[in-house]
Amino acid sequence: MTDLQIRKIDFGFDETVPFQWLPSHPKFGLMANAISIMAIAFEKFIVASTRRAMPLIKDPAVAEEAEAFLRQEAQHAKNHRKHIAALVRQYPSLQKTVDAAIASFDRLLEEPLEFQLAYTADLEATFTPIFKVMLDHQDVLFAPGDDRVASLFLWHFVEEVEHRSSALIIFDAVVGNRWYRTRATRKVFSHVMKVYREILAGFDEHVPAADRQAEYRHASPDGVRREEVVARLPMPMSWRHRFGIFPPSPFAPASNFEMLTLAYRLIRSQVPHHRPQKEPLPAFADIWFESYERGHDVTRYYSSSKAG
Ligand SMILES: [Fe+2]
Ligand SMILES: [Fe+2]
Repeated sequence: MTDLQIRKIDFGFDETVPFQWLPSHPKFGLMANAISIMAIAFEKFIVASTRRAMPLIKDPAVAEEAEAFLRQEAQHAKNHRKHIAALVRQYPSLQKTVDAAIASFDRLLEEPLEFQLAYTADLEATFTPIFKVMLDHQDVLFAPGDDRVASLFLWHFVEEVEHRSSALIIFDAVVGNRWYRTRATRKVFSHVMKVYREILAGFDEHVPAADRQAEYRHASPDGVRREEVVARLPMPMSWRHRFGIFPPSPFAPASNFEMLTLAYRLIRSQVPHHRPQKEPLPAFADIWFESYERGHDVTRYYSSSKAG
């Protein structure tokens, strides 16, 4: 029996939602906006490919897990669509970027089913280590931002941690060849990173710099590597301005040790014998689940928590 819960949450996003929802950490805010578009495209793909895999799943417990998994993902996609629709109303040409990301994931549905399932298992395996670093620093990376947008990401990321094993359970049941998943890694991440870079480029093209407060080079994969290395060198603030590492790098609140651990766990997430259930989890996930159980308004997590 699956432990996953389907939480139907409706986030109210309107034109008052700012593109840059985290002015204190705009590079992270930009990265999260790109994740919001990725979520729409990727989760639509997950729902379609998991539905295709369903008839091949013989074990009823796995079938139940798969059903709960795709229903959680469908809820995520629904609310990310609302978030991005609110931004598109402010920057209409941004729709081109959204459409291109969706088309790119739609094309993956032409690949063999085993590749589609490996894709989801590979990418989902990276989420727990990445979101752990983010949620371990939610006081800096989410709390100071627009409560509605921050709350969308908190909900999504804790549920990603909750269903961290699902995609691999489905992959094992249908494909059952862990080496295939590992061999697919390179092709999977070259696709993911291409879509992610195109979204960031779309932001630079369609959203004025003053509203973004950060740009492609701060949040691209190469840019983040550069930012996180340079930002960790000891230097006076004037130099930080000169090197463009002020405002802070996307993962600024994480220590060097946490970043090295993240890199190690990302590599581990792709090896054949990876066991997501054994991953260290962000303590915040349990705090969030408890808030939800107590009936807090998780669409405005921080103001609702403050109100008790
Ligand atoms: Fe999701
Ligand atoms: Fe997921």
